[in-house]
Amino acid sequence: MDPVPLALSVCGVLFLISWISYSLHYFFHAWVTPTPRDLKKLYDAEWALVTGGSSGIGLALCDILCSQGINVFIVAKDDPLIGQSTKELKKKYPDRDIRALGVDLGDRNGGYLSKIEKQTKNLRINLIFNNAGYIRVGLFPDDPVDAALHNMEVNVTSSLRITHLFANRLLDRGEKGVIGFTSSSSCFIPCPMSAMYGATKAFLTHFATSLAAEVRPSGIQVLVIHPSPVNSNFYSDTRGLGAMESARKTAVSAETVAKSILSSVGRTVIKDQGYFTVGARLLLKVLDLNLFADIAAAGIGLAGDYWKLKKDRNPEKKERMMNKSDVLRKNMFHAARIPFSEFDSTWRHFGCTARQQNRSALQVDEVASLIR
Ligand SMILES: NC(=O)c1ccc[n+]([C@@H]2O[C@H](COP(=O)([O-])OP(=O)(O)OC[C@H]3O[C@@H](n4cnc5c(N)ncnc54)[C@H](OP(=O)(O)O)[C@@H]3O)[C@@H](O)[C@H]2O)c1
Repeated sequence: MDPVPLALSVCGVLFLISWISYSLHYFFHAWVTPTPRDLKKLYDAEWALVTGGSSGIGLALCDILCSQGINVFIVAKDDPLIGQSTKELKKKYPDRDIRALGVDLGDRNGGYLSKIEKQTKNLRINLIFNNAGYIRVGLFPDDPVDAALHNMEVNVTSSLRITHLFANRLLDRGEKGVIGFTSSSSCFIPCPMSAMYGATKAFLTHFATSLAAEVRPSGIQVLVIHPSPVNSNFYSDTRGLGAMESARKTAVSAETVAKSILSSVGRTVIKDQGYFTVGARLLLKVLDLNLFADIAAAGIGLAGDYWKLKKDRNPEKKERMMNKSDVLRKNMFHAARIPFSEFDSTWRHFGCTARQQNRSALQVDEVASLIR
């Protein structure tokens, strides 16, 4: 056989193996094992600790755990929501012991850990779900560094401190258990405009996969889930960004993700949930991350969201760059022969509307006339 067709065939086969190995694993865990597992029975669990249990995925997780007869210890921000959610859970599950601790998991001195340590000293906690987290939208250099570090403490460092404490307690008692992490599909791809989010979630995923191997022989199962968009308070501060709004429109319920977590525990280490995560994974099997990163870096100027967020350090230069980006965009659509109506809706979809509301170098009508 000629070397070129041979090389192409080999590449095709490797590509197919890569897709098939991913798809088989995904469909097995999505379809064959879709029901939440009874963690009380499986891990002889009396108590679970859930960070971020006051709302969204964490609250849905607490709800299911209580329904299985497990007591929950919630750790979340010290705000009215934690009291309200705890009260509602107690009303729904009067036989369960439901406790809550309001702390700032973003405290960079880790002051929350001693409180958690003290208040859980006499509780036999076998299930630990590191779920608290939030996205901070903005351009990294334009954001105060303290805000970025707070984000890192909540999304990553608090999970490390908590995991270290409870993994050691489990190992000392010689008991089975679960350590869960709520990561995100953002961890696979460049996340300009929320750089801390993607980076913190990438840390969680990688850490979880290594920890899983270290503790499995001792009977501790580690799970990291990558949810697709979820309908929760996560989207309460998106700064009107088109991409975030679009994601929100496709969001599934927090209960769906909680069920996905509980059906995957002990069955797999990494659980990809929903269309966005699976799409990103499959895309990265075709488009390598190295190339993806170059495309993201080269194309960011075409995103309306980017210009909306960018700080006006030098208004003249910003105006010039925005104009350049408009002309580029116009040429791209012109070359692709996309009719304006389609362009208009796509453009609005990805955040142009937001930019127009602020200030725009070229109005959409002007762009339309240029395209025509
Ligand atoms: N929603 C999505 O589309 C999506 C997608 C992928 C991954 N995730 C991840 O899923 C996890 C849960 O998010 P969610 O969607 O359920 O959003 P959510 O409803 O906003 O829940 C976030 C939880 O984290 C707590 N939290 C935030 N900052 C905290 C702090 N400084 N100290 C203590 N607790 C803090 C919140 O407490 P308060 O309620 O008191 O603020 C809340 O309980 C997060 O890690 C998020 O990154 C979400």
